[in-house]
Amino acid sequence: MTDPSFTPDPAAFDALPRHVAVIMDGNGRWAKARGLPRVAGHRKGLEAVRELTRACGELGISHLTLFAFSSENWRRPETEVRLLMELFMTALDKEVAKLHTNNVRFRVIGDLAGFSDKLVERIRRAEALTRENRGLCLTVAANYGGRWDIAQACRELARRVRAGELAPEAIAPETIAPLLSLADGPEPDLFIRTGGEQRISNFLLWQLAYTELYFTPTLWPDFDRVQFDLALRSYAGRQRRFGQTGEQVEDAKRRGTGGHA
Ligand code: IPE
Ligand code: IPE
Ligand code: MG
Repeated sequence: MTDPSFTPDPAAFDALPRHVAVIMDGNGRWAKARGLPRVAGHRKGLEAVRELTRACGELGISHLTLFAFSSENWRRPETEVRLLMELFMTALDKEVAKLHTNNVRFRVIGDLAGFSDKLVERIRRAEALTRENRGLCLTVAANYGGRWDIAQACRELARRVRAGELAPEAIAPETIAPLLSLADGPEPDLFIRTGGEQRISNFLLWQLAYTELYFTPTLWPDFDRVQFDLALRSYAGRQRRFGQTGEQVEDAKRRGTGGHA
């Protein structure tokens, strides 16, 4: 239920996520409903990205990860893929300076080998420019797949085993986790998927193990600050138990030892 009196303010959330991960879905349907080409939805979606990035910065959320292009999205019609790449390129050109001014650290996760040299160079340049920034860490997942992520970690483990640096028996979740994308930050606390589908679509499979999931029928181009506040409010009302009982969590909170795992 929408509460118009609800004003977003960090102090208003007793449990603000540190890391929000989003599947920005519904651009095509947004455009179709208006008799526009699908790419118009992607363009409009970029405005929603801008708005969410700003909101996260203002609220002091430290990490935002956005699924922009999945490893399966290559299956789309060639023209849509091409237009998406062009949009990605112009967005990089237009937005990076602004992100830098706003102290945002920008980076891309995914298999960059799938992209043109020109695009990869633009990405690397943007990452290098913003590397030292200590504001919001904005990660864009492009040509990303959760299975790819786990596979590339496995490849590195196998290399270490072959080199005699690692015994197979020593492989544990703790040895795999640091080799995955996003390992240098907190795991996502809140996952949002717009567009009504209730699935993960090969996004962060490992990293979402204990993430709170939020699905909304709102199409991505319509996902505004009010919608984000609803998601944050839903998150704040949940009890994260991480395998413990509700009583244990309450108890830890009272003694001041609770909080994020
Ligand atoms: C998400 O919107 C954007 C990308 C996958 C690039 P869609 O393009 O999937 O929009 P729908 O799901 O067709 O409405
Ligand atoms: C997931 O959306 C990928 C992105 C938003 C980038 P899709 O629209 O590709 O997902 P499916 O195909 O409906 O599962
Ligand atoms: Mg979709």
